[in-house]
Amino acid sequence: MTKFNCIIITGASKGIGEGITNALINTGNHLICISRTENKELKEKAIKKKVQLDYIQYDLSYTPDIDKLMTVVFEKIKDKNLDKLILVNNAGVLNPIGPIETCDSDEIQRHISINLIAPMLLTKEFILKSKSFKCEKRILNLSSGAAVNPYFGWSSYCSGKAGLNMMTKCVAMEQQREKYPVKIMALAPGIIETDMQKTIRSTTEEQFPLKKKFVEFKETGKLESTEVSGKKISEVLLGDKFESGSYLDLITL
Ligand SMILES: NC(=O)c1ccc[n+]([C@@H]2O[C@H](COP(=O)([O-])OP(=O)(O)OC[C@H]3O[C@@H](n4cnc5c(N)ncnc54)[C@H](OP(=O)(O)O)[C@@H]3O)[C@@H](O)[C@H]2O)c1
Repeated sequence: MTKFNCIIITGASKGIGEGITNALINTGNHLICISRTENKELKEKAIKKKVQLDYIQYDLSYTPDIDKLMTVVFEKIKDKNLDKLILVNNAGVLNPIGPIETCDSDEIQRHISINLIAPMLLTKEFILKSKSFKCEKRILNLSSGAAVNPYFGWSSYCSGKAGLNMMTKCVAMEQQREKYPVKIMALAPGIIETDMQKTIRSTTEEQFPLKKKFVEFKETGKLESTEVSGKKISEVLLGDKFESGSYLDLITL
């Protein structure tokens, strides 16, 4: 029986998630994409290449139904003969930007729901629901340099990513005693030209004093494309250097 890699990717509709999904539309992979909007091009490409790609539209800021979301996901893979089962916690937001006292309270809560609580609950459900699976199991959390360095105006983003890094280390430690452990790592992709970078460039210097530096990155061609980034990340995902508990920074600047 043919073996499959099943890869669950959040935030597959655009940006880095789209780049990763694009790089993984290959024979032998089954992709399960989660985001609020569907990416029709990815679906069409998958049909052309005869690759199974399922799309689930879900708003990850709504965390109470994440267990149900993962039940739907696991229904799609229950009869598969798996080589690797992978979860990519990629979906993320940057707003609110600005000194914390100027940020909207609901927006701070929504940010932490999407960037930290949702990945934690997805990780929990992934581990629970795949407990008896004997295949290689991996979780990749999309982190950032902001997880390890404070940035003026990014208190939500830095806190969420720092939390994600720490969750990665704790879960890696917990999984060491499991019979069929899940490997988990955090990865900072570098600086990639996506809507998130456009958001950074459109803030005011009062909200984010480092704005000029990010405009300069764009003007001097320092930003990486989502295609190149997606390819690099997909190689880490499927490769044999996936070190549980680690934080890998792919920044090239
Ligand atoms: N770009 C960079 O330079 C950079 C650097 C370091 C780290 N990162 C990290 O890389 C990841 C991807 O960032 P990106 O630059 O590709 O961002 P992006 O272009 O803004 O894309 C964000 C993705 O997340 C999804 N998403 C946002 N809110 C969601 C929600 N409530 N529910 C479900 N999905 C949601 C979006 O899909 P929908 O809008 O369709 O829901 C979209 O697919 C993030 O975790 C980010 O922090 C990016």
